[in-house]
Amino acid sequence: MKCLIVSDLHYNLKKYDFVLSAAEHVDLVVLAGDFLEISLYIDRKAQAVVVQNYFRRIREKAPLLICSGNHDLDQRNAAGEMCSRWVDRMRLYNVHTDGDSIVVDDTLFSMCLWWDGEAGKKKIEEQLRKGHEMRPDRWVWVHHAPPAGSPTSWNGKRSYGDQELHDWIETWQPDLVFCGHVHQAPFVANGSWIDRIGKTVVFNGGHQLGALPSYILLDTKTSQVYWRGQPGTRCANLGEPLLTAQDWAEDVPEWVFAMCRLEARHLA
Ligand SMILES: [Fe+2]
Repeated sequence: MKCLIVSDLHYNLKKYDFVLSAAEHVDLVVLAGDFLEISLYIDRKAQAVVVQNYFRRIREKAPLLICSGNHDLDQRNAAGEMCSRWVDRMRLYNVHTDGDSIVVDDTLFSMCLWWDGEAGKKKIEEQLRKGHEMRPDRWVWVHHAPPAGSPTSWNGKRSYGDQELHDWIETWQPDLVFCGHVHQAPFVANGSWIDRIGKTVVFNGGHQLGALPSYILLDTKTSQVYWRGQPGTRCANLGEPLLTAQDWAEDVPEWVFAMCRLEARHLA
């Protein structure tokens, strides 16, 4: 299964256009939060309408899994905690979102909400406990914030990671966790787009300026994973120690080249 993983689009419509085009070349699209941008002069309700439309169009091309980020919160729930109702509503359009756990091929994906307090944290714990009970060969989490103490949460000055997520990873040891939130992590010294905590591999594709998002491509059949960003391409094999991660592989598959060509067309 060929997967495209992106986070932190922050209402950059050029970046959404790229994801929409790229969706044709993959079997699954994962968007790990921060769809909207709180600092823009455009009302976030209006932003959400535009983004929901992108989600529907992406969903027409490939299954779409999403989770909320801190820029996506739109109202308080019964517990008095901020939540992303507009993200929840995407379920109506067959987009899998916060609180869902679904099996695609042989992989269980659990999409976690952006937790704002104890009630949100409990919801995630319950979701992960249930996921653990039905766990197939491969279990993947989608959670906006990366884990504390990981290079995927290092912004060049300090760690902005989530200690709860780190503890949940240690408890349940999922196979993969897709995150975002700390934009700088793949671009700064001592940061990274990939990390291993026990048997779990954690990803943060990061966020870069311009019309193209930085993003991750994963082929679950070959276990080969690629990160694309302004500094170039990095790759790793999930079955090998991450220390062997290279700048570029010798035998790059055609679908990854197709993405590179798509980037060039997108910028033309
Ligand atoms: Fe962000």
